[in-house]
Amino acid sequence: APSVLFDNHGRPLEYLRLAVTDRCNLRCFYCMPEEGIQYLPKQELLTYEEMERLVGIMAHLGVRKVRLTGGEPFVRRDLVPFMERLSQLPGIEELTLTTNGVLTAPYVPALASMGVRAVNLSLDTLDRARFASITRRDELPRVLDTFYALLAAGIRVKINAVVMDGQNTQDLLPLAELTRDLPVDVRFIEEMPFNGHSHAATLPWNHVRIREHLALNLGELTPVLTRPGDTASHYTVAGHQGRLGIIAAYSRTFCGTCNRIRLTAEGGLKTCLYDQGVLDIRALLRGGASDEQVAEALQQAFRNRAANGFEAEQQRPTHQLSFESMSTIGG
Ligand code: GTP
Ligand code: 5AD
Ligand code: SF4
Repeated sequence: APSVLFDNHGRPLEYLRLAVTDRCNLRCFYCMPEEGIQYLPKQELLTYEEMERLVGIMAHLGVRKVRLTGGEPFVRRDLVPFMERLSQLPGIEELTLTTNGVLTAPYVPALASMGVRAVNLSLDTLDRARFASITRRDELPRVLDTFYALLAAGIRVKINAVVMDGQNTQDLLPLAELTRDLPVDVRFIEEMPFNGHSHAATLPWNHVRIREHLALNLGELTPVLTRPGDTASHYTVAGHQGRLGIIAAYSRTFCGTCNRIRLTAEGGLKTCLYDQGVLDIRALLRGGASDEQVAEALQQAFRNRAANGFEAEQQRPTHQLSFESMSTIGG
């Protein structure tokens, strides 16, 4: 049985967020400028073979859950056969992904048959015009196709909606209403200051305001116990099939129980969302390192991970994150 690796602060390594591409087919204004970001040349991306090898090594170190992110994962060609191989790696108990749903619907049966049990779907509004203005692409119908295909296939869906003052606050209730008759989790996320958006002193729609707004309109929100490493606080509402969730991505830290690491599309290891540097795993792989050597480097990086990257980030004089796109680090 695989061992479990703990960092110097007693937190386990269980969960890998693997960015399979930095590209995206949407242009959400809180993530990317209209013209997109400077994409990596193909040879700088990890190959599927390299990723598969890394996930295998990480499974030996105790990683049980892998979430594919991007950019948009389905923008990368041949994603499904790659996922099939990952799903068969010993030790990987949970394979999942975060997708914007534009290209996903046709692959839903394949996801179901390889054993993907849950998918996180990014969706900030159910209004077609506002969807087009937030994402700069008129793709809501295809996203909804994906949503209903996932439900029909029995795959659990968590909707991620970023809450943006002056953009989609009128959409919170219609999104939350989905939980009434459908077994779906709808999670509202505080907007994080990426893409040059300044570090506002106060966030107009923080987790407290989001919760109060939901409770005022839907009735009492009953908190559900969170598991260590969860980003969201979850709530049930009497009579609703699905749950509501709030991710205080900006005003709160879950560093204390963080169980995850990230790999960027170019093979940079981030032991914390707020890491300013990455460990260049690609260089190790392409330099001919053995599995043992790679594992050793991963362990060393993980053991030395920041105790509280969020706090460190808050204390920085300039807000470094605002120069990066979420798309390059996989959220
Ligand atoms: P689960 O595996 O379902 O718990 O997914 P998740 O909530 O960890 O990931 P998802 O990709 O759905 O991202 C939801 C939101 O949480 C996004 O805005 C992410 O950027 C944010 N998020 C994910 N991981 C972290 C983290 O380590 N720290 C912070 N502050 N935010 C995170
Ligand atoms: N603030 C909060 N969430 C964000 N996401 C992307 N950019 C931001 C941001 N600036 C979300 C996406 C997706 C998840 C991976 O990250 O909507 O659901
Ligand atoms: Fe694409 Fe997600 Fe960024 Fe939107 S938030 S542009 S869907 S990577």
